[in-house]
Amino acid sequence: MTDAPHPAAPGTGLVIQDLSVAYDHRLVLDGVSVACAHGEILGLLGPNGAGKSTLLKAIVGLVPRAGGSIGLDGMPLGRGGAPSTRLAYVPQRHEVDWDFPLTVEDVVLLGRQGRLGLLGRPGKADRQAAHAALERLGMGPQRRALIGELSGGQQQRVFLARALAQEGDVLLLDEPLTGVDATTQAIVLDLLADLRSRGLATVLATHDLAEAARVCDRLCLLNGRVMAFGPPHEVLTTDALVRTYGSSGIGLNRDLGEEVTRATLGPALPHDAGPAGHPEHEAAPAGRHPHRRTGR
Ligand SMILES: Nc1ncnc2c1ncn2[C@@H]1O[C@H](COP(=O)(O)OP(=O)(O)OP(=O)(O)O)[C@@H](O)[C@H]1O
Ligand SMILES: [Mg+2]
Repeated sequence: MTDAPHPAAPGTGLVIQDLSVAYDHRLVLDGVSVACAHGEILGLLGPNGAGKSTLLKAIVGLVPRAGGSIGLDGMPLGRGGAPSTRLAYVPQRHEVDWDFPLTVEDVVLLGRQGRLGLLGRPGKADRQAAHAALERLGMGPQRRALIGELSGGQQQRVFLARALAQEGDVLLLDEPLTGVDATTQAIVLDLLADLRSRGLATVLATHDLAEAARVCDRLCLLNGRVMAFGPPHEVLTTDALVRTYGSSGIGLNRDLGEEVTRATLGPALPHDAGPAGHPEHEAAPAGRHPHRRTGR
């Protein structure tokens, strides 16, 4: 198992080094180092309050760093470096104001806004990209519905469509599998496999250890700090799970850890990842998040 984080393949994909984040001077992430290469899915696991959402928000620039660095393909993210528009982010459900009066199509078109500029209006190509993304997520027929009128799983699919329409090459997903039915789960997992094969780097926060072990190339056990980072069969040990979740909260996870450690963990998703920098995923607009609730 890899106790000390060691971002592999420096310079390719997303590399986070020694990242610290504080809210009101309270450190919630301390010295976090993880990496996610193109064509790879990284699973973020940890108990409630571990800092999974905070890590995703720090990557996308929604919360300030107290220290450390975040790089993409060897360049720092943001001003003067790799454009943050390459990152497509789907927030955790409770972060979104679902009553915002926008249609499904409007929401997905927001994924195109970064490439249009603040005042740019979407054109035919943008609408086509939005429609294609909605079709991909099985939400084409609902495109004129108000986002607030959809079920939770449908809303989740719409936000994934928005991320897809953005055509970024790094995908940051905060619990996309939580509270969705088997159909939505299958659609999302199929999409992730497809995006991986097209060279996207995907970071996925989840509470589902078994699913994460199945679909992720590498896992990060997080609880304020990185408790373990590496391939699922190396990371999911009883020892690491106890350090992450504590011995009292470990019952189920301990069993799971032993089970998946024993099992041969061939990733369930096909591994035909192409090289980085697929032409369809060049610099793309950052998602704007007009729906996000402020504060928690
Ligand atoms: N805006 C905020 N202001 C102050 N503290 C915050 C804020 N957002 C998060 N926190 C705190 O930071 C810590 C990490 O929270 P975070 O939401 O990142 O955890 P998480 O791992 O995503 O949890 P969950 O599994 O419940 O989604 C928690 O202690 C939380 O209370
Ligand atoms: Mg969270």
